[in-house]
Amino acid sequence: MQLLHTIRAKFEPILSLWLPETAALQASLERIVASRDASLADYQANVAMPLQKIVGKPPLEIAEDIVKGLRVEDLCSEVGIAGGGYVNLRLSHAFLESALEMAYQSEKIGVEGAREPKTVVVDYSSPNVAKPMHVGHIRSTVIGDSIAKILRFLGHHVITDNHLGDWGTQFGMIIYGYKHFRDEEAFQKAPVAELGRLYRVVQRIIGYQSLVTNLPTLERNTVLAAEKLQSVTEKQAAAPNDKKLQKELKSASNAAKESVAELESAKQAIASAQSDTLFLERCDAHPQLESRVLKETSKLHHGDQENLGLWEAFLPHCKEEIHGIYERLNVQFDHELGESFYHDMLPAVIEELMAKDLAAPSEGAICVFLDGFDAPMIVQKQDGAYLYSTTDLATALFREREFEPDACLYVVDHRQSEHFQKLFAVLQKLGLTHTTFKHVSFGTVMGQDGKPFKTRSGENIGLESMLDEAIARAWEVVCNPNRIKSFGMELTDEEKRDIANKVGIGAIKYADLSHNRTSDYVFDMDKMVQLEGNTAAYIQYSYARTRSILRRASGEEFQITDWPAAAIQIAQPAERALAMQILRFEDTLVQSTHDYLPSVVTDYLYELAKLFSSFFDQCPVLKAESPELIRSRLKLTELTGRVLKKGLEVLGIETVERM
Ligand code: ARG
Repeated sequence: MQLLHTIRAKFEPILSLWLPETAALQASLERIVASRDASLADYQANVAMPLQKIVGKPPLEIAEDIVKGLRVEDLCSEVGIAGGGYVNLRLSHAFLESALEMAYQSEKIGVEGAREPKTVVVDYSSPNVAKPMHVGHIRSTVIGDSIAKILRFLGHHVITDNHLGDWGTQFGMIIYGYKHFRDEEAFQKAPVAELGRLYRVVQRIIGYQSLVTNLPTLERNTVLAAEKLQSVTEKQAAAPNDKKLQKELKSASNAAKESVAELESAKQAIASAQSDTLFLERCDAHPQLESRVLKETSKLHHGDQENLGLWEAFLPHCKEEIHGIYERLNVQFDHELGESFYHDMLPAVIEELMAKDLAAPSEGAICVFLDGFDAPMIVQKQDGAYLYSTTDLATALFREREFEPDACLYVVDHRQSEHFQKLFAVLQKLGLTHTTFKHVSFGTVMGQDGKPFKTRSGENIGLESMLDEAIARAWEVVCNPNRIKSFGMELTDEEKRDIANKVGIGAIKYADLSHNRTSDYVFDMDKMVQLEGNTAAYIQYSYARTRSILRRASGEEFQITDWPAAAIQIAQPAERALAMQILRFEDTLVQSTHDYLPSVVTDYLYELAKLFSSFFDQCPVLKAESPELIRSRLKLTELTGRVLKKGLEVLGIETVERM
């Protein structure tokens, strides 16, 4: 049930008399919202004030006219006007009860779904294989999966695609590593681990060589920064009250400190590498490794038989690794069309851009110049190589032909925002104007130290061990013997493992989802597995609590099983508040799709769980005063449980029946 839509529809005929234009009418209808203060109203319409000029009357009189014309007897028990011309609506118990009954009877708990279903492609997760997957990719995976599930549940046609980076430089790295550093036996035994090791060996050499090459520049920067600081210091001393100079001095001093720190850390890294003679020998034997790696990559892209053969041999192993993570996260994709899939389509992209006069040669490369950007989008390099952008253009054109989407979402780290702005601008120029392209960007996961969160120095095992740790913590919090005993529960080891797994994985997902996706957030394992607060465990526990009440009702002591046939009655304020929240489920889901914010859903579930807890405290269920009320409350309990479960499900989080 889309409550908000139902209420707005009641205002529409009246408002359209004053606002014949669709856009203005729509804007006005959007001023009808759920009230923040339930003691005043359930819904509030702040439409009269902005109509003052159009109607030529004071807002209070306009509000009176609106109320006179409003036919809401079937929905509301009270319609009032507050100062300033607000129209306040209170839904009637009769309406709430019948809406709850409808929700109870429906398989989708009353969710009617989109009137105009859209086709939406969701591009998410998309890690670069052969490189260790990092926590940013988990965030993309979890947010993307949830957006896809919410849209699907609302009846949209969703196509999910994992745009794997399976064709980039990292393959040049492992191909080079394999040719020069491989341990054949280790590769035969555990190819994934050996490829990971080769990646790190090559990466370390490249890192060292670039530090050494960069050292003179870093030294020069330090000198320049010190000189700058000196001159600003002198100027500032001559004019101590000049605010601008004070600021300049501060930033010059910071810059000087930073460049010294950078130089020092480079020197330290070089010194520590130099104490490893074996490593140094390797570095000497493979000078300018970065360009050698680029050559291997380029050979691969030009169809070199040996490299193509190695790529084909490596790819399944690389995929196996990330598929293991997806399995643990319980995430599946409709498609997994990686970058390599588009390789043969790239020349045609350049041709099309040239034919339409959108791209032009510039300094040997081919570029698309765009208004409003400092740099053009390069689509082919001097040496003929294509870029990430070229592949993304080919991908968008392919999806257009294949899926004819209304919208295409890219769930990717905020650091790629310029790339996507340019991409979307070029796609517009290519005529893809009927598709909405959107970069659903997200912030960085930070460690407790205030720096981007890294799983144990970025090693392959990092992510896996992060999941293991969450599960172990969940076990400690939820399955510890004292807690289980105090609840009088008896759980088998298998049940405990299942609970710890669902709570642990749920904790990681929920933490990612409950923080507004656009901001950075601090990864805090202790907090995320807690049973109190806005956490997965609290919502999962609330669900399990509804189940335990229903089990008790139908158990030996009470033997009640006929509550589904009973009528729901709303007697107490806590019951009413719970009922309102249940009925706002669909509005919440719809709202979360407006800006693709799963946190709207987590906030809703947290509120629902708290309201259930107050309901349970204030309204006895099995000891209610009449058999009818017992059954009504059992029904409300069951309905709450179903919404909690479905709400978690669209977030990709599983539930357990007991915990
Ligand atoms: N592979 C890229 C990365 O790890 C993300 C790809 C996102 N999707 C896309 N169509 N560009 O940074």
